[in-house]
Amino acid sequence: MQVSERTIVVLGTGGTIAGRAASAQDNVGYRAAEVGVADLLQGLPVLQGFGLHAEQVAQIDSKDMDFGVWCALAARCAHWLAQGDVAGVVVTHGTDTMEETAFFLQSVLAPVKPVVLTGAMRPATSAGADGPQNLADALAVAASPLAQGVCVAFAGAVHGAREVQKVHTYRAAAFSSGDAGPVAYVEEGRLRLLRAWPQGGALRDLQTLRAPADWPRVEIVMNHAGAGGAIVQALVRDGVAGLVVAGTGNGTLHQALEAALVDAQGQGVAVRRSSRCPQGRVIAQEGAALPVADGLSPVKARIALMLELMA
Ligand code: SIN
Repeated sequence: MQVSERTIVVLGTGGTIAGRAASAQDNVGYRAAEVGVADLLQGLPVLQGFGLHAEQVAQIDSKDMDFGVWCALAARCAHWLAQGDVAGVVVTHGTDTMEETAFFLQSVLAPVKPVVLTGAMRPATSAGADGPQNLADALAVAASPLAQGVCVAFAGAVHGAREVQKVHTYRAAAFSSGDAGPVAYVEEGRLRLLRAWPQGGALRDLQTLRAPADWPRVEIVMNHAGAGGAIVQALVRDGVAGLVVAGTGNGTLHQALEAALVDAQGQGVAVRRSSRCPQGRVIAQEGAALPVADGLSPVKARIALMLELMA
C-alpha cells in the first residue's frame, strides 16, 4: 500500500508549554517560553502518514503578545497553508492570550485547512505536564479531514476561535466555549465532532495590515459600581481611535460612563459595547446610542475593531 506523506507544520511561540521550573513539583514558579518547539515534539506518538516540520516564530510569555508577533505568525501560517502538501498548522502558544491570537488568525486568514492552537497549564518540567497530551491532540486535529479553520485544542476539547475563552487561572481544563460548547472532543487521537465547524473572518491581504506600530489604538474600559467618564475623556484627549466598553449584564453602563462614551463617539471615536459576563451575548436594543460588539468578548471586540479601522 502506498503511504502518502503529508506535512503538519508546528509553529512555536512560547508559553507555559515551553516553560521550565527548578522542580518537577513546581507548577507556578516557572519561566515560560524556554524550551524550543522542536524539543516539544520529542517523544510524541507518531502520526501515521504525516511528517512534522517545526519552526520557532517567537519565544515569549503570551502576556507579552504584541502586533509584531501576530503579523509574523499570520504570515508564517499563510505561507505554510498555501503549500499543497501541508495538511494543517499547529501553533504552540501561552494560554493567557491564546483566545486573542486564535480570533486574530481566524479574522485575517479564514483558513480552509486547520490551524490549531494549543498550550499547557503546567510547565514542560512538571511531573504532571499537560503539554505533551495537548500537543498530541492538536496534531491529531490538524491531521483530521473533519477539521477546518482556527481552533484551540486543549484538555481533550476543541474550541472555535470566536467562542473560546480562558476561564480558569490554574486548572488543566482552562478553556471554555461558553454557551456554544466545544466543536469537538479528541479521544485517543480521533476527533468526535459535536456541531458544524464554526466559520468567520475573511482572507485578508496581510500587506493591508499596517506596520505594528501604526495599528489604530483601541482601548477597553469597564463598567462597574461607581464608574465615571474620566478615563474615557482622558483616552479621547490622548488620541484613542476606538473604545470597547465591557458593560455589565446585557452591556449596561453607568450613566456617567455612557454619557462620556456617547460624547467620544460624537467626536469620531469608534465605540463598541460588549459585556464583562463570560457567557451570553449583548442583545441589541432598538435606538441604543452605542453599537454592540456582535457577540464578541471585550478582548475580541477590540481586535475586530482594530481590523475594521485598518480596513
Ligand atoms: C503564557 O500565557 O505564556 C503563560 C501562561 C500559560 O501559558 O499558561
